[in-house]
Amino acid sequence: MKAIVQNRYGSPDVLELREVDEPAVGDHQMLVRVRAASVHADVWHVMRGVPYVLRIMGAGLRAPKDLVPGTDLAGIVESVGRNVSRFRPGDEVFGQSLVANLWRHGGAFAEFAAVPEARFELKPAGLTFEQAAAVPTSGSLAVQGVRDEGRVQPGQDILINGAGGAVGTFAVQLAKAYGAHVTGVDALGKLDMIRSIGADRVLDYAQEDFTRSGERYDVILDIAGNHAWPAIKRAIAPEGTYVLIGHDQYGATGHRWFGSLGRFAKLMVMAPFVHQLHPFRGVKDPGDRLVALKELIEAGKITPVIDRTFPLSEVPEAIRYLESGQARGKLVVTVGD
Ligand SMILES: NC(=O)c1ccc[n+]([C@@H]2O[C@H](COP(=O)([O-])OP(=O)(O)OC[C@H]3O[C@@H](n4cnc5c(N)ncnc54)[C@H](OP(=O)(O)O)[C@@H]3O)[C@@H](O)[C@H]2O)c1
Repeated sequence: MKAIVQNRYGSPDVLELREVDEPAVGDHQMLVRVRAASVHADVWHVMRGVPYVLRIMGAGLRAPKDLVPGTDLAGIVESVGRNVSRFRPGDEVFGQSLVANLWRHGGAFAEFAAVPEARFELKPAGLTFEQAAAVPTSGSLAVQGVRDEGRVQPGQDILINGAGGAVGTFAVQLAKAYGAHVTGVDALGKLDMIRSIGADRVLDYAQEDFTRSGERYDVILDIAGNHAWPAIKRAIAPEGTYVLIGHDQYGATGHRWFGSLGRFAKLMVMAPFVHQLHPFRGVKDPGDRLVALKELIEAGKITPVIDRTFPLSEVPEAIRYLESGQARGKLVVTVGD
């Protein structure tokens, strides 16, 4: 089969389109003919091998242990392992190829991928394979932030910092679906799109610093992670909730060894004394998040925002575009015809 292969850490130049063997399929896995896959920040982290801690967390010390990048995909089940009970050949599915830690290559940028049944669902009715492939990781992070950690309620004011990116475009639509009043913060060129997917108000981060406006929000979902806690504290209601997703801005910020992990560690140390901080509260089975997304998509409440699609041979271009930071919503890779 054709696949994107990476033998060493580095820039998108290390990614090559090659012929490789189809992956072996375990008892709890299924072989999926990939129709579309999507790019996200963790794919970039593993390609570059930064922060270095990911190398000891399973990505591979000197070079990537698993050669084919990508984790999120949609496609058609080709065959199933002996313990797979929910799917059969011919089913159209979408999901993540890795079970827990996404700081590894997951084999999605290929014509076939061996994937765990537990991280897959039937493709939402009415979505194309491209749209479905855009959903799993970014959509699940948005559900984690808005529903599980933010516990957004109808009528609440939520501010989403970094609302025009991959996670943000899902988070805006989710927060609206849960009945919140949404303020989206991002670059000027993304604000019309953020308004078009439901944000009630948008702020250009180059013009307005939301931490200095005097306004307070019930929930701040911080994807960009560019303000320290004392600044955030000014903008959060006394009974509000701060949820940090965190972003290394494709290498521009973030510690070389630990990325944003230091910030999470600080928040966890402070959490027992600051009731606006509840890091990782309500962390649930990630499988439930994909089900929630599928239901909201089928109810017409969420539509994946796709900036561009690229053929499999152009994964390096897709990742170059990702690291430029310009993408509005998601970047998708089409596979096959
Ligand atoms: N917390 C967790 O459990 C967890 C797990 C997995 C992944 N992650 C991380 O989650 C992050 C998800 O980000 P994503 O995929 O949504 O990234 P993205 O698509 O790059 O979106 C980030 C958005 O933030 C905007 N932005 C940059 N600087 C900003 C600022 N100062 N103020 C407001 N917005 C700003 C960017 O716009 P411009 O570039 O145009 O400025 C962009 O639109 C990744 O870094 C990933 O590593 C977290």
